[in-house]
Amino acid sequence: MFLLKVISTVCILLQLWTIRTVSGVDNRTFPPNFKFGVATASYQVEGAWDEDGKGENIWDHLTHTTPDSIYDSSNGDIACDSYHKFDTDLDLLKELGVDFYRLSISWPRILPTGHIDGQINEAGVAYYEDIFTKLQENGIEAVVTLYHWDLPQPLQEDLGGWLNETIVDVYANYARLAFELFGDKVQYWVTFNEPYIVCQQGYESGGKAPAITKAPGIDLYTCAHVVLKSHAKAYHIYDSEYRATQKGKISIVLNTNWFEPASDDEKDLEAAERKRQFSFGWFANPIVHGNYPQVMIDRIGERSEKEGFDKSRLPEFTSEEIEDIKGTYDFIGVNHYSTSLVQWIEDYEIGEPSSIKDVSAEVYDDDSWETSASDWLKVVPWGIRKLTKWIKDNYNNPEIIITENGFSDTGDIDDPRRTNYYREYLSNLLEAIYDDEVNVTAYTAWSLMDNFEWFQGYSAKLGLYSVNFSDPDRPRTPKSSVKYYKTVLETRCLVDKCIE
Ligand code: NOJ
Repeated sequence: MFLLKVISTVCILLQLWTIRTVSGVDNRTFPPNFKFGVATASYQVEGAWDEDGKGENIWDHLTHTTPDSIYDSSNGDIACDSYHKFDTDLDLLKELGVDFYRLSISWPRILPTGHIDGQINEAGVAYYEDIFTKLQENGIEAVVTLYHWDLPQPLQEDLGGWLNETIVDVYANYARLAFELFGDKVQYWVTFNEPYIVCQQGYESGGKAPAITKAPGIDLYTCAHVVLKSHAKAYHIYDSEYRATQKGKISIVLNTNWFEPASDDEKDLEAAERKRQFSFGWFANPIVHGNYPQVMIDRIGERSEKEGFDKSRLPEFTSEEIEDIKGTYDFIGVNHYSTSLVQWIEDYEIGEPSSIKDVSAEVYDDDSWETSASDWLKVVPWGIRKLTKWIKDNYNNPEIIITENGFSDTGDIDDPRRTNYYREYLSNLLEAIYDDEVNVTAYTAWSLMDNFEWFQGYSAKLGLYSVNFSDPDRPRTPKSSVKYYKTVLETRCLVDKCIE
């Protein structure tokens, strides 16, 4: 008996070893309750930018007033026309067999001025109501982002967007309305998508709308402060007014590369960790532990003083605010695509402030990494394993949902590199789950279909389905990666045959 057991264990180990060393891909099955989905966002797919009473948003405004800032001078006026084609999109979701669909609500489509006391746009409400009803009828869960970058333009013009604290209540009212209207059909709420990008690119580098670059080293931190307070307020509204009846979960989605030290040198390790804290930790630390990372408080404080400011450029939370923000997550949503190397450098000299100088680290890619159609996206599958393990170790082993992951190319229907990207990243995720015991419960492919990729316009494609943007009907065609992702969803396995 004992001998038989030993032989069978050896056989299993051998099988494991053979399959993994031959293909390099993990051959274990995803846990039975693990969920798979796909994602999109309102401005990137909906189109119908001024139809049926929708208000203007900051992306409508930016693309119409400065079209040259977009690579191909395009915009999201029509995009994938999902406003008129949700039934088609639903067919794609069913064909893929996803457990959930991650999408976002366009704030000005339901509140054209952004304010609750402006009028509610019934046509916009009906559009989302129809989506959530049909998802529910088809057993597809809804993961819904309240803010995926399309701020109502009046809130930018009249208030200054995320720099003005009065927006906290305006946003909270919008969030409450969304919970009230749709919460019975929504399983997961996301308050903000990628606040790092909202603030760093929206209010410092200019890489995203509203592309305000006038106070580097200052505005982005104000923006984050206001976004974090808005997030906490929405979380508490859901928690106290809706959770008991609607029984969903709510959190935020944070984006980050994995920042790998350039060498084993202590200084490189320190610089890489600092870079992680200044990106992911900037938001995760307040939400999990209650305040900004100490390294941000110290460095920005010291530099601000030397620059002659009378207080730190990093705003301070009061102790009540710290308590209020701490714990405002039911899971942590992670958008992850790529990895960077980080090398220690001397601190930048004191001069004009900027967040890049506050971090002081050399961030770059390894030349040998596979490239994509986006300069920020290199294929580094092991990064997702290191990142999720680091999150487990630093943020109390939270439930993690990978809310975006995907590959960018120029749009071929035959897209083996996308299939490969998914296979390799998912393989590393399996290792994170089984070998590192990271609590990752779901994975989201970005994106369901090619769409408006912000400043890259339609030049970078990340969809599983191709969309013909020259055809007024915007037909969708499955790429070869659909076949792979669909099989993974069916079998919960990345290779031809998995071990149970
Ligand atoms: C992050 C954003 O959430 C999404 O809108 C964007 O298209 C993808 N990453 C790819 O850049």
